[in-house]
Amino acid sequence: MPLVTTTQMFKDAYEGGYAIGAFNVNNMEIIQGITEAAKKLNAPLILQVSKGARAYANHTYLVKLVEAAEKETGLPIALHLDHGPDFETCKSCIDGGFTSVMIDGSHLPYEENVALTKRVVDYAHAHGVVVEGELGQLAGIEDDVNVAEDKACFTDPDQVYDFVTRTGVDSLAIAIGTSHGAYKFKPGQKPQLRFDILEEVSKKLPGFPIVLHGASSVIPEFVEKINKYGGKMPDAIGIPEEMLRKAASMAVCKINIDSDLRLAMTAAVREHFALYPDHFDPRQYLKPAREAIQGMVEHKINNVLGCAGKAKA
Ligand code: G3H
Ligand code: 13P
Ligand code: ZN
Repeated sequence: MPLVTTTQMFKDAYEGGYAIGAFNVNNMEIIQGITEAAKKLNAPLILQVSKGARAYANHTYLVKLVEAAEKETGLPIALHLDHGPDFETCKSCIDGGFTSVMIDGSHLPYEENVALTKRVVDYAHAHGVVVEGELGQLAGIEDDVNVAEDKACFTDPDQVYDFVTRTGVDSLAIAIGTSHGAYKFKPGQKPQLRFDILEEVSKKLPGFPIVLHGASSVIPEFVEKINKYGGKMPDAIGIPEEMLRKAASMAVCKINIDSDLRLAMTAAVREHFALYPDHFDPRQYLKPAREAIQGMVEHKINNVLGCAGKAKA
């Protein structure tokens, strides 16, 4: 099947009480590791590309690699623009083979976010592409933008109905206490998410798919391995898996994961060089990196997302 939009995936996920994993991709090994896991478990998949990924790997390479992944696996795969910064970037992705885009106007004043998001939706829908918008602001680093903790703000449930109806978005990212990157909570701080906000939002938008960004668990095993083999990652803390499972059983249909991919890959490469300091063929260290990603994604599909076996032919 060709690349798909997220429409049917989200409908099934909402009804089934599970979520689809949206994994950030930057190169061939990352794409292969993720899609091998999804293929083994027959899971639907969202592969997402950031502005930074496009700058690093080139739009055409990434589209062709994702198309190849679809051809090899036969899975329903959506190709999504993550954190689209402006109309032009969204248009370029819509025109260039993506099936879904995010327009991230979350940092703008409300009315400007509505106007920008609606402009992207009008163009996207005219081209058969779906759109994710965002209300509320997560802390942490994405692309070259670092949102300070004191600038982050939770989504206001009283705004979501107005935003969704006026813009026509197909899904909505909300801020309930997750954040981007590997340092989501301070040492000693108890991880907490505002499930009350998620519940309020879903009451205002019955049946509507909600997206959770900044949803890596920052798997301790990888951080420990990185530090064991020469890394220096102080007190990296992520979102507990049971909280993500709870969100997936509620209105959250898309869970964004990037940092856990980075950690899995880096831990495997560091371990490899510690064990084989004489190796210099990239295939020697990228193979275990790809396998680490596959194992991590299988774990997410089985234990966090609950989407194993949900890929429809
Ligand atoms: O939310 C941001 C994602 O982790 C993508 O990161 O912009 O560095 O590619 P990036
Ligand atoms: P993490 O940094 O928690 O993996 O979040 C990724 C993300 O939200 C991409 O949009
Ligand atoms: Zn994000």
